[in-house]
Amino acid sequence: MTESDPPRRSIIGPIFFSLCGFLVIAALAALPFWAGKPQENNLPEVAKFIGRFHPVVLHLPIGMLVWVLIIEAGNLIFRKSAQSSSRSAIFFTAFSAVLAALLGFLLYFSMPDYDKDLVERHLVGGIILACCAVAAFVVKTWVDALEGRGTKHYRYLLLCCAGVMAFTSHDGASLTHGKGYLTDHAPDPLRKALGLPARTTEKPLKKTDDPIVYTDVIVPILEQKCYSCHNAEKRKGKYQMDKYDLLLAGGTKGHGIIPGKSADSNMMVRINLPEGDDEHMPPEGKKDLEEHEVVLIKWWIDGGASKDAKLTDLPMTDAVKQALSMRVSPEKRTQQNAAASQPVKQTAGRRDSLKADIAQLSAQFPSALNFESQDSNNLVFTAVGIRKKFGDEDLAKLKPVLPAMTALDLSSTKVTDEGAKILADATDLKSLRLPETDVSDLALDHLTKLSHLESLNLYGTRVSNAGILKLAGMKQLKKLYLWHTDVDAAGARALGEKLPDCEIVMGQ
Ligand code: HEC
Repeated sequence: MTESDPPRRSIIGPIFFSLCGFLVIAALAALPFWAGKPQENNLPEVAKFIGRFHPVVLHLPIGMLVWVLIIEAGNLIFRKSAQSSSRSAIFFTAFSAVLAALLGFLLYFSMPDYDKDLVERHLVGGIILACCAVAAFVVKTWVDALEGRGTKHYRYLLLCCAGVMAFTSHDGASLTHGKGYLTDHAPDPLRKALGLPARTTEKPLKKTDDPIVYTDVIVPILEQKCYSCHNAEKRKGKYQMDKYDLLLAGGTKGHGIIPGKSADSNMMVRINLPEGDDEHMPPEGKKDLEEHEVVLIKWWIDGGASKDAKLTDLPMTDAVKQALSMRVSPEKRTQQNAAASQPVKQTAGRRDSLKADIAQLSAQFPSALNFESQDSNNLVFTAVGIRKKFGDEDLAKLKPVLPAMTALDLSSTKVTDEGAKILADATDLKSLRLPETDVSDLALDHLTKLSHLESLNLYGTRVSNAGILKLAGMKQLKKLYLWHTDVDAAGARALGEKLPDCEIVMGQ
């Protein structure tokens, strides 16, 4: 036995595996015909239970197949055709793919309220994938027995498996997460290539014209909180909510919405059930509707649940007005939540403790001092209305409230380097505007202490190349405005190297 003439392996193994493989493939292919239409009621509970493991098990063949592809890509690159290195891996791929297909089948029979076309395509895809994987394993046993002959066919089969897998897992994801799960946030060029319309960025409520209550108020709420389970593919309770007619029609339990009668509308009944109730919607674990959203839905239903009524067509109350004002875009809300969970938490109660100071300052500088938002403890101050009447002594009066200040606009005021000293107390300050003031490099010494400062405007001041280098340690700085200062391009570049994340605006 030499290396150039290794012994032929027995072909009994491959023949045995071919027979088994053939039987498995035939059985899988016959499965849909043999089982007939899905009927949830005929299925034993234990079968339904086992079927629920499909979403867990299906990751096995995906991972294994990727592993096989990696091994074979390695073999191809290093020209090791006769290797049997991926045989056990393709065996487990085939085995787990068959298992996943069988479990998927049980799931299909226990949850008949999915979109029929999509679920059937997914089912067929899963079966084809399992068959391809079994065939690939059988071929691999032959390839190994024949010392690497036919490796090509094995690799073609693997490519088939990969293609079917991509297709099938996309359908599976659409079933569980809704059709646009993968593509919703895809970049526009990719969406275009897939034949999808460009991404709709958040529809702003047009202030000028009268918004339509259903499309502009109700749909955005349902979209966020209900559509994920009640859409064309996933009709939980046989209830599809993303079409107006179906939203009203309801599901297995009848009317979703009875116009004018929110109390009798199934949808409202479910929403109003206590949160612990099994039938409460959205179900446990999903983000509940907010109070103002419930107010708006109820208002719309009681107002006739019209598809095209305008905001002004429905009777307006203070509660509704308030609820309408609470709607913010999802992005804005995340920003607000992020801001709210930051240092503000420690400052809870700050609002109360500062009340007296704020009242006094508000009287002195009318409409200059405000809270960042309705439910924020953060203060913002703008001297835009006062400008030249506002100097260092005035700035000193803000001292007690400076720690709560997040934005300070001192544009064109008489503030000088002396005043800038006080600013070191504004430890939470994120945005500071000092354009066209008398500050110079000396002021920058004090500003470096502002560890949350993200935006600094020094437009039209006397700061210089040497001065701004003091800011080199302010890694949190995102924007710095320096046009019409003594800083030149070289100076800006020198600082830019120290602060790669900061956008330095020179005004050219
Ligand atoms: C996580 C998935 C999920 C979300 C999100 C969800 N639902 Fe459901 N919904 C279900 C399931 C499952 C059923 C069927 C079981 C049942 O009746 O409780 C159902 C049933 C219903 C039904 C009864 C349909 C019928 O006639 O049988 C209504 C009404 C309903 N949901 C309303 C809503 C509303 C309104 C929202 C959004 C606020 C919502 N659901 C969000 C899963 C969900």
